[in-house]
Amino acid sequence: MFSRTFASLVTSSIFIQSTLAGYVLSDDFTKDAFFGNFTPFTENDPTNGFVKYLNYNDAIKSGLMASVANYAGAAYMGVDNSSKPTEGRPSMRITSAKTYNKGLFIADIAHMPVGCGTWPAFWLVGPNWPAGGEIDILEGVNLQASNQMTVHTNAGCTISTSGMTGTVNTTNCDTNAQGQKKNAGCAVMSNSKNNYGAGFNAIGGGVYATEWTSTAISIWFFPRSSIPSDITSLTPNPSGWGTPLAKFAGGCNIDQHFQNMNMVFDTTFCGQWAGADDVWAASSCSQTTSTCNAHVQLMPDAFTEAYWLVNGVRVYQQGQGKIRKRGVSVEW
Ligand SMILES: *[C@@H]1O[C@H](CO)[C@@H](O)[C@H](O)[C@H]1NC(C)=O
Ligand SMILES: *[C@@H]1O[C@H](CO)[C@@H](O)[C@H](O)[C@H]1NC(C)=O
Repeated sequence: MFSRTFASLVTSSIFIQSTLAGYVLSDDFTKDAFFGNFTPFTENDPTNGFVKYLNYNDAIKSGLMASVANYAGAAYMGVDNSSKPTEGRPSMRITSAKTYNKGLFIADIAHMPVGCGTWPAFWLVGPNWPAGGEIDILEGVNLQASNQMTVHTNAGCTISTSGMTGTVNTTNCDTNAQGQKKNAGCAVMSNSKNNYGAGFNAIGGGVYATEWTSTAISIWFFPRSSIPSDITSLTPNPSGWGTPLAKFAGGCNIDQHFQNMNMVFDTTFCGQWAGADDVWAASSCSQTTSTCNAHVQLMPDAFTEAYWLVNGVRVYQQGQGKIRKRGVSVEW
């Protein structure tokens, strides 16, 4: 009796691992499938940036957006680098048409915006902010050297500081948490110099992989020269990727705090983070102009590095299936 059961379990688990378990590609937003699966956001920046978000027609007309054919299949999203606008520098913010509940998000990015006054981000956001949650995968301001990863929620979500290579700055993800700056959220600082801004662009960028399950939200960065082969072969398996840069888990019911999220790419300027008086003053950027808005308005030449070049985003979901073998039924 004992040995028969044991034999059946062994047989089934080998079968699952070798054939069906794991992540299966659900959305492939690469090349021509990139822009069409995102929608431009053209309202005023909710973070009060000195920015004017363009729709696709205007972005193409003014050269801010280009056909992927012009960039070897990559999606180019730039900003205006020639005018001195009084009401915000033209830029882009795009939102995925699809919403997600969990999954593995693999973004291959060759170049990201950087420079004084810039505040670029690749992130996920749910409805009724902050009720549906926010996951900032790649984000920073001005001349920042390393990525800051942050999640924002409403009350009742905290994280532990273990299981990641980054340094946790704040552990209460509630946007109104006591003892933290407003909207600080759960913030994790990377200590690496190649995963944001100039350092990231110097190595041709790489892959940000974000795994969102019911138990954790984990973020890895792989420089272009060391992208794991399971990612390039479209059979990603996070269990072999080692310790993530950031891991958001602990005192948080993830299913409750993160729901129906859209992916977003944007480049804003100044506003609540890059333009905050203390942040601007602390940056060497303040040596040229005393305020962030003045820099963004008056120095168009300073924005030549403020563009995204995205090779694509692929989203994977856990495979679902059922096998029956020798009377043993396994579901996952
Ligand atoms: C860390 O969090 C504190 C409290 O919210 C904040 O004052 C400080 O600026 C943060 N540091 C960094 C490096 O983000
Ligand atoms: C200025 O912006 C346009 C449109 O985004 C871009 O095509 C061009 O390469 C930029 N110029 C420089 C010098 O970066």
